[in-house]
Amino acid sequence: MRSDILVLGLALALAPRALSGEGKPAPPRAAAVAWGKSDYERFCVSCHGERGDGRGPSARWVDPKPRDFTEGIYKWRSTPTGTLPTDADLARTIVRGLSYTSMPRWNGLLDEQVADLVAYVEHFSPRFSTEPRGTPIDVPAEPPVSPAALAEGRKLYGVACASCHGANGRGDGESAKWPGFSDEWGHRVRPRDLTAGHLQGGRTGRDLYRLLVTGLDGTPMPSYAAALTPEQVWSVVHYVQSLLP
Ligand code: HEC
Ligand code: HEC
Repeated sequence: MRSDILVLGLALALAPRALSGEGKPAPPRAAAVAWGKSDYERFCVSCHGERGDGRGPSARWVDPKPRDFTEGIYKWRSTPTGTLPTDADLARTIVRGLSYTSMPRWNGLLDEQVADLVAYVEHFSPRFSTEPRGTPIDVPAEPPVSPAALAEGRKLYGVACASCHGANGRGDGESAKWPGFSDEWGHRVRPRDLTAGHLQGGRTGRDLYRLLVTGLDGTPMPSYAAALTPEQVWSVVHYVQSLLP
């Protein structure tokens, strides 16, 4: 008898939901988030934490610190400064990893697994459900390297970059002194030593052009979209390439 009552109770409890349409299949995005959860908990949680706040159990041993996903702020984007990255930007970071940090490359995963992980990472920040994504920036055709452009690049570097990256590109500029020089999350950062060549985002002209126009959000590395013309950006890019080993 009791079980009959239970069944009846359950049926009543479920019926209004079905009628009101609440029982309809979840949208694909929610399904991806649900799928991403199990891989996230296996592969990512030790660093990025259960709540996506970058405070997993291994985080204390790691420098730079694992990203806190809750604010939706990302360094590696194809999109303008201050805007959200595309899914493809996040997928690229996951598959390639970030060289010279403890963020591993996850290149053994299926494309669907990566897509579900992207959805799961994004679900930690409400920004992804309320704001539009940024539109990837344009990278115009690369002009040839010339002595005149290199000289201009050197001059612009002195004005725009040396305060942080140092007169010779060694990452030892005057503004970059700790304490005080930190990222969005209060962790110490260092301007990259350009003469060591440990670049995370690649060293081709396109990679560096994109970096200078998008900036690295959440860090002191600014966007030069407003300060430099495309020709000036290319000159700086070519000068930076001349500093790399
Ligand atoms: C061993 C620690 C570790 C593990 C495990 C790890 N990460 Fe990371 N991850 C990091 C660190 C450290 C950074 C930040 C590097 C930096 O700021 O330069 C990072 C950054 C990121 C970023 C942000 C990049 C940006 O543009 O700001 C994403 C997205 C990311 N990880 C996703 C993942 C996913 C998904 C997994 C699991 C498949 C994962 N990570 C596993 C350490 C880890
Ligand atoms: C206010 C300080 C500051 C200024 C000014 C600045 N940078 Fe940076 N830059 C940084 C910091 C900090 C990082 C490292 C960010 C991180 O990964 O946490 C960085 C990273 C870089 C990187 C490494 C990218 C990679 O792929 O790993 C390059 C290249 C670079 N900056 C070039 C420049 C150039 C060229 C200029 C001038 C046009 C410039 N920066 C101006 C602070 C600065």
